[in-house]
Amino acid sequence: MRTLAIVLGGVGAGGVAALLALADPAPQAQQAAAVADSIAAPVISDTAALRGPRQPIFFRHDIHAGQFKIQCQYCHYSVAVSPEPGIPSTQTCMGCHLVISGSDSASRTEIAKVRQAWSEKKPTEWVRVHFIPRHAHFPHQRHIKAMGPNACATCHGDVARMPQVFKVNQVDKMGFCITCHLERNVSRDCSVCHY
Ligand code: HEC
Ligand code: HEC
Ligand code: HEC
Ligand code: HEC
Ligand code: HEC
Repeated sequence: MRTLAIVLGGVGAGGVAALLALADPAPQAQQAAAVADSIAAPVISDTAALRGPRQPIFFRHDIHAGQFKIQCQYCHYSVAVSPEPGIPSTQTCMGCHLVISGSDSASRTEIAKVRQAWSEKKPTEWVRVHFIPRHAHFPHQRHIKAMGPNACATCHGDVARMPQVFKVNQVDKMGFCITCHLERNVSRDCSVCHY
């Protein structure tokens, strides 16, 4: 049983906390204290059986966003203000992993990779799960504004319970876009999505 919990407050506070953490990681990490609640992420013995592409570091959303309730926007910092959600830098990871080394040998091995990437100043090359071709574009911020910060699950599924991210819906296919735009009476003009 894991015994740490991260106290980061609501989405708004989480955003502020993220900025603070970038400026000064230490206080954030110190908030990682006591009390376990909520869903305990399962122990994974067979990573080969997980859906979705294998990532260079076994980063687990079910531990970070699920068990420890770190807000999506703590890491995907620009999702509400930009077309691109943002992928956290190693510096964001190190805000916690300077002090959090892992509670068993499997987690310590993976966290060691984060620290190594940091000391070598080598950005992690995450394998992209969802992407649309260059002739179309998808503005995250417009959708988050219209659908709210919990919109993520509508398109990406329950990421907070995923040990490894996989594609739940064909979100990067035109049919998925058009179906919802029809339902919600949003423009279907070709030029809205295509350059
Ligand atoms: C502690 C940081 C962190 C938090 C919190 C976090 N993520 Fe992520 N997320 C990442 C990293 C790192 C990746 C790239 C590696 C991967 O795919 O697992 C990623 C990848 C993803 C992807 C796949 C992107 C692609 O390649 O298409 C989705 C979707 C996603 N996150 C959604 C969420 C949602 C929804 C939440 C909140 C429930 C969330 N994330 C919380 C760090 C985080
Ligand atoms: C707000 C704090 C926080 C941030 C930011 C954070 N982590 Fe973690 N991470 C944790 C906690 C807490 C654990 C659970 C440690 C344990 O009990 O083993 C953890 C566990 C892990 C593990 C071990 C998972 C396992 O198999 O048990 C890896 C790998 C990891 N984090 C990678 C990352 C990466 C990569 C980033 C940046 C994209 C990141 N973390 C950002 C708090 C954080
Ligand atoms: C209406 C559907 C929809 C919603 C809602 C949505 N996404 Fe996405 N997401 C997509 C699509 C489509 C892509 C691929 C975009 C591209 O290739 O430009 C994507 C890509 C991503 C990526 C990969 C970005 C990268 O640079 O690797 C992340 C991370 C992500 N989304 C996180 C989130 C988070 C977090 C939320 C909620 C705050 C969210 N998304 C809400 C459809 C959605
Ligand atoms: C689950 C519903 C949903 C899905 C799926 C969805 N959208 Fe949207 N989209 C919306 C809503 C609602 C708006 C209106 C936002 C607003 O009013 O600003 C919108 C607005 C947009 C806009 C801005 C329209 C304008 O008038 O400027 C673009 C561009 C767009 N979507 C592209 C896409 C693409 C590309 C996809 C598929 C990859 C997609 N959307 C999938 C609900 C959706
Ligand atoms: C709501 C967003 C949206 C609208 C509106 C839209 N598209 Fe698309 N379209 C996409 C996305 C995203 C893709 C890339 C994913 C795919 O290939 O399905 C795409 C792909 C395509 C492709 C390539 C398909 C392929 O198989 O490679 C064509 C051709 C196309 N669109 C034509 C159109 C035309 C013509 C219109 C207007 C009648 C239109 N689109 C309106 C989002 C949209």
